[in-house]
This record gives sequence, structure tokens and C-alpha cells, in this order.
Amino acid sequence: MRVAVIGTGYVGLVSGACFADFGHTVTCVDKDVSKIERLNRGEIPIFEPGLDALVDKNVKQERLFFTTEAKDAIADAEAVFIAVGTPSRRGDGHADLQYVYAAAEEIATLMNGFTVVVNKSTVPVGTGDEVEAIIRKTNPDADFAVASNPEFLREGAAIKDFMIPDRVVVGVEDERAKAVMDELYRPLFLNETPILFTQRRTSELIKYAANAFLAVKITFINEIADLCESVGANVQEVARGIGLDGRIGRKFLNAGPGYGGSCFPKDTLALTKTANDYGSPIRIVDTVIEVNSARKKAMADKIIAAMGADVSGKTIAVLGLAFKPNTDDMRDAPSLDIIPALTEKGASVRAYDPEAMHEAKELMPDISYCGTPWDAIEGADGLVIITEWHQFRALDMERVKNSLSGNVVVDLRNIYDAEDMEKRGFAYTSIGRPKTGKA
Ligand code: UGA
Repeated sequence: MRVAVIGTGYVGLVSGACFADFGHTVTCVDKDVSKIERLNRGEIPIFEPGLDALVDKNVKQERLFFTTEAKDAIADAEAVFIAVGTPSRRGDGHADLQYVYAAAEEIATLMNGFTVVVNKSTVPVGTGDEVEAIIRKTNPDADFAVASNPEFLREGAAIKDFMIPDRVVVGVEDERAKAVMDELYRPLFLNETPILFTQRRTSELIKYAANAFLAVKITFINEIADLCESVGANVQEVARGIGLDGRIGRKFLNAGPGYGGSCFPKDTLALTKTANDYGSPIRIVDTVIEVNSARKKAMADKIIAAMGADVSGKTIAVLGLAFKPNTDDMRDAPSLDIIPALTEKGASVRAYDPEAMHEAKELMPDISYCGTPWDAIEGADGLVIITEWHQFRALDMERVKNSLSGNVVVDLRNIYDAEDMEKRGFAYTSIGRPKTGKA
């Protein structure tokens, strides 16, 4: 099949490369000239494991193309994916749909023959209707159908999530369009991926409901972690104890500093806005949003308490800045709440992240950035782990002990064993785990 993808952001690029790898011919279109030039030179503008090799392979095999010229790409395509950004609108938190609507207008003028216009951008319920109306108005003779096909890609694991998904959701009410979507995803039939065809509005809501549910799950375990700290219980064992119940499930029950990223914060907010607009509030998600943002701020207090209630004049080494491992994405990262709160109280922060320092420097220009974890740790009064990159999971703790001038370690991802850390003489603080008292 011939496919056009509008937008070469995270979702557009990953989807385009993966569809090409399925064997389809894909043209990714973006108005950003320098981005397209970079892509055509083989440079990938985002950090996503495996994406460079996948793009390279499919470009060489002439199934994947990048262009700023939408005309031919759209005219030739049987399916045109809209994969542009839908950021939170300034002021009210609604998803900003201006880029989606602009793409719809452009597609309307360029489409040729029956075309399925597929919304992959995360869009509020009813956006498909709006896109359909825009196309109809712009080009009354167009032969087309609008489908919704939300993405469930996690940054850092996006290619695997696309190639081996738990499910594919397609909201479509037109039989011809259904056949096109079926054909596009046919390569996944081999591994028996469930493909769920629903009405368009249902599909749009599935996306938000899925992200909101995961945000609820994380926030639930985070509050249980706080209770664990108060009563002397262990949140990791609680998570395992409840997660082994198949109705609950073990995944997304890792307590931490609060969720961040480009999806959960934005999508939970947009869902509650839609719900309120329709007079059908989702109070549990309202609460989750509030609890999560308070949690990110509270993490700085936890660190300050661990450092003896005063960080003024102290040096703190921070490992991990991205909102999670395997990405350079800093959007709504907990580090952005935690670090400024520490420096405001007079601490000097020396940070290291394997991929996100470039982004972080723009957002937090006033802290020091180090070339290795050891440069950050050497001589610091305390060490704080904010993001659980693999390379931080097995640090040489003897060396950490000898390098730090103090002995405080705050592990906001529970990647170290509390008893072991205490035995080694660290003043170790983690999330929702009792001190063993065996130091
Ligand atoms: C999320 C969803 O997992 C994807 O399915 C979805 O497609 C994507 O949003 C999207 O809407 O585009 P992503 O934001 O990349 O993916 O990252 P997650 O792995 O879901 O993590 C989100 C946040 O939750 C991170 O800050 C992470 O540290 C935190 N988290 C996750 C926890 O604190 N505990 C957990 O157990 C899991």
C-alpha cells in the first residue's frame, strides 16, 4: 500500500518507519525544511533505540521517503496519517488542534481517488467528525473516509510497541476504509495481534481512557508508597502482592517521583476538560492530576530531609534527568520540579544523564552538567537518582562511597537494595520502603 504520514515528530516518524518495514511504501511529510534535510541525510532528530537502523534500512530499500512536498505524497496515497502535535492549549489545558485541522485542509485539496484519512495524533472525542467536516467543506467532491487509529507507543520502546502491540485500535465506520486499515495492519496478523474495530468516537476515547487508567495506576501505587513509609511496609512487595492478581496486573505499579512525559500529563488534563465540557466529570482523574503534581514537588522536600533538613551550600549529584530511561525527552520530567527546588534552597546541583542533557541545559541552564556519573558524584555531599537508566542500576557502590564526601543516597526509583545500601554505610532513602535497621 502507499501511505503518507503528515508530521515527522515522534509518532509520525516511528509509525512511518514501521509501516515501511511492513512492506508498504511510505512518504513522511513535514513543513520543517531543516528536519527533512536532516532526515534525508540519515540523521534522526529524536533519540529512540533502534529507530536509526530501521529508518536507514527502509530508506535504502526505497520504501521510506521524506519530503516537504505534500502534493505527490498525498495524491498517491491510499491512506494518509495525521501525526502532528496536539499540545495542551495555553491557558485552558484543552488539546490544541490547530495542526490537525491545518493538515486536514491540506489533505483535502491534494487527495486523489478514494483516500482514508487516519488520525494518529491524540485527539479529543469528536475530532474525527471535525476533520471530516473540514475535508468535506474544503473539497466537496472528495472521495474519502476518516478513521481514528490511536498509538500506544512508549518512548524508548516504541518500535517494539508498534511491531508487537498488545492490540491495534481502529475507529472506522466505512467498509472501504476498514478494508484499507485491515490491509495496512495485515503483517501483524502473523503474531495474532487483536485488531479492534470500533466506532470512531469510541476509538478516540480508548486512547485517553488507556493513558488515564495507567496514570491512575501509577498514582495509586505512589500514594500506597507514602502509606508504606508511614506504617513501615514495603511498596515493592505490596505491588507484587496485588499485581499477581490477574485482575490487577503487575505492570505500571512501580512507585516513583510521579509520572511525567509528553503524554500522561497532557492527556489526563485533556480528558478531564472534555469530560467537564460534556457535564460528565471524571473525578478520579482530576484527583490524580492534582496528586501527581504535588508529588513531584514533594520529592525535593524528601531529598532535603534526607540531607539533614538543610541543603544550603551543599553539593548534590543528580543521576537521570529525562522523564524516564531510553529517551532524551524532558517534557514534564520530575527533575524539572525537583532540581530548581533544591537550588532555590541554596544547593549546587551537578547532573548527569546519558541522553537528555542537551534538552535539560535549555530548561535548567544554571546547574552543572557532567560528562560522566563519576564527575557528578566526586566530592558531592549526596547522590540522588531520579531516572532509572540501566547504567545507574549497578554502580560500583564502593567507588560511590569513596567518591562522595557525604553518605546520603536518595533513590527515587527503588533500584537499589535498602539492606545492602545500609550495610555499606549509606544513609539510604528510597520510595515506600522501610529502613531495615540492619545497618
Ligand atoms: C505512555 C503510554 O505508556 C503509551 O502506551 C502511550 O502510547 C504514550 O504514553 C502516548 O500516549 O503517546 P510514555 O509517556 O512514553 O508512554 O511513557 P511510560 O512508559 O508510559 O511512562 C510515563 C511516566 O510514568 C514516566 O514518567 C514513568 O517514569 C512513569 N511510570 C511508569 C512510573 O512512575 N511507574 C510505572 O510503573 C510506570
